[in-house]
Amino acid sequence: MTRTPLIAANWKMNPLPEGALEKDSAYRPQSGIETIVFPTFLDMQSCLEAGLPTGAQYGHPDSVGAHTGDVSMTMLKKAGCQFVLCGHSERRRDHREEDSDVVAQAESALRNGLHPVICVGETESERRTKRHKQIVERQVRVLPLREIVTIAYEPVWAIGTGVTPTPEQAQDMHAFIRSLVPDARRETIRILYGGSLTADNALEFFGQPDIDGGLVGGASLKPAVFRAIVLAGVQARS
Ligand code: PGA
Repeated sequence: MTRTPLIAANWKMNPLPEGALEKDSAYRPQSGIETIVFPTFLDMQSCLEAGLPTGAQYGHPDSVGAHTGDVSMTMLKKAGCQFVLCGHSERRRDHREEDSDVVAQAESALRNGLHPVICVGETESERRTKRHKQIVERQVRVLPLREIVTIAYEPVWAIGTGVTPTPEQAQDMHAFIRSLVPDARRETIRILYGGSLTADNALEFFGQPDIDGGLVGGASLKPAVFRAIVLAGVQARS
C-alpha cells in the first residue's frame, strides 16, 4: 500500500516565515507529496489567497455562540480552510483539552467538511513508567477512525526539545497505532510523526514503513530547512 506522504508545518504562535507567500515558497505543494501550513488565525487568509494548502491550529466544535476568543469549524470551512489540527499537546496542556474535547473537535471538523489532523502522544513520565502505549491507545481508541482523518504521533517530550525517540521506537508506536485502526481504514490512514524533526533526522523517520510524513514545528519556520524535510519525504518513498 503506498500512502502519499504528508508534511505539515505547524507555525504555532509565530509570524509567517520569510517568503512563505512567494511564488517559489518552500511551502507550496510539490509533486509526489502533500504539504499543509498551519498559520495563526490572523495569517490564514493570506495563506489561502496565496494558494497554500492551509489548516487551522484549532476550531471550536460549536458552529456559533458565546465562546469568546474562539473560531468555529463552520467558520473555518467558510473561509476556505481545508484542514484543522485537533488535540495538539500544547492545547491539551494550555487549554486543558481532554480526549472528549478532541473527539468533539474531530467530529465537528468532519461534519463541516474539514480534514482533521489529530495529535496523540505520551509525556516523558508516561514513557519512563512504560505506560506510553496504554496512554496512546486511550487517546486513539476514542477517535472517529472510520472516517478520513490523519493521526500525528507526537511524544510530548520530543516537542521543541531536540530530543526524539529513535526512528525504530517511533515506528513501533506507529505500527501499534495502525493496529488500532479498523480494517477498512488501516492501510490508508496516514500517521505522521512529530517532535524535533529536522533536515538531518527526517529521512530516517520517513523511511519507516508506518511513518507517512511529519508534523513539523520549529524547523518549519525556516523555509530552507522545511524544503529539505519535504524532499526527505519524497526521497523516502521513491
Ligand atoms: P517541534 O514541534 O517540531 O518544534 O518539536 C512539533 C509540533 O509541536 O507539532
